[in-house]
Amino acid sequence: LARGVTAPDLAGRHVVVSAGGTREPLDPVRFLGNRSSGKQGYALARTAAARGARVTLVAANTALPDPAGVDVVRVGTAVELREAVLQAARDADAVVMAAAVADFRPAVYAAGKIKKKDDQEPAPITLVRNPDILAEVSGDRVRSGQVIVGFAAETDDVLANGRAKLKRKGCDLLVVNEVGEAKTFGSETNEAVVLGADGSETPVPHGPKEALADTVWDLVAERLA
Ligand code: CTP
Ligand code: CA
Repeated sequence: LARGVTAPDLAGRHVVVSAGGTREPLDPVRFLGNRSSGKQGYALARTAAARGARVTLVAANTALPDPAGVDVVRVGTAVELREAVLQAARDADAVVMAAAVADFRPAVYAAGKIKKKDDQEPAPITLVRNPDILAEVSGDRVRSGQVIVGFAAETDDVLANGRAKLKRKGCDLLVVNEVGEAKTFGSETNEAVVLGADGSETPVPHGPKEALADTVWDLVAERLA
């Protein structure tokens, strides 16, 4: 193959990618959210399609154009994202959880807009746990040989935290990147280490999100073969 021409090594495969960040509503006009842009997930969807896969992209609150030839399912909350991912995972060969899923949601949704009162302090917001979708798809393995990939953004002890998280989640691969104020969120580039449940460690140098995406699919394709 010529340089820049991708081998169709995912032809005949169905892959599911989640992207973006969930929003957990407090009332009709407010939510708890995060800074994920969805760019890494969209890069994963585009590169998988270029390598011949059928792709389901579960997009949480992204403001990006639909990638050509990809089935896009739009969701808002973690609970909605779980439904869409579990549904699409039923016949999937691989699931890549690139979305930033809120760990908690407000315990109560106010049907009307929350109003301030001059003589009162604001009420505290009580949170409850959201389901852990990555742990659930890793534990289910609805299809034998399914490859499950997680992402982790860490600020300290990046590799040690990544190893522990990989084990806890039960996934096959975990893409670990170090985050900070200027790093990763909304940027066009990424730098990461991909940890394998088999003990492998694949560093991905600083570069476009497509390059990291292609490395992820290389590692997935090896494990599907
Ligand atoms: N994830 C998920 N469901 C959740 C939370 C996270 O599926 N409720 C997935 C993310 O999509 C990501 C991976 O789990 O692929 C790791 O997310 P991360 O937030 O780093 O892991 P947590 O277990 O939530 O750990 P932490 O306490 O560090 O946030
Ligand atoms: Ca989390």
